[in-house]
Amino acid sequence: MGTMTWTDAAALDELFPGEVMALDFEGGHEVAFYRLGDEVWATANACTHGPGRLCDGFLEGHEIECPLHQGRFDIRSGKALCAPLTQGLRTYPVKIESGRVYVALE
Ligand code: FES
Repeated sequence: MGTMTWTDAAALDELFPGEVMALDFEGGHEVAFYRLGDEVWATANACTHGPGRLCDGFLEGHEIECPLHQGRFDIRSGKALCAPLTQGLRTYPVKIESGRVYVALE
C-alpha cells in the first residue's frame, strides 16, 4: 500500500454531507464521491447492472440506490445488496488531508 498514488479530487467543502458528487479522471475513471459527516467514500459512478449513474441515485446511510432499477450498493465495500444487482461496485481508497479529498485511482 506504500506505493499508492493519490490524486487531488476536490475540496472537502465541495462535497455536501449526505450527497453524491461525480468526477471524471484520466484513464476513464468515473468516480462517485459520497460524504457522510466528515467521512468520504468513493466508488465507480456507473452501476454494474445498466446505464444508471449512482450520482443521480439516493444515498441513505451507507447505501446508494441506483436511480434506474433501485439496486442498492454498500458504498464502503461496493457490495451489491439486492436484486437486480449481481455484481459489486468498484471502490476507490480515499483520504482527507488539509481540507482536500484525495483518491487512489489505480
Ligand atoms: S442500472 Fe442500476 S439497478 Fe439497473
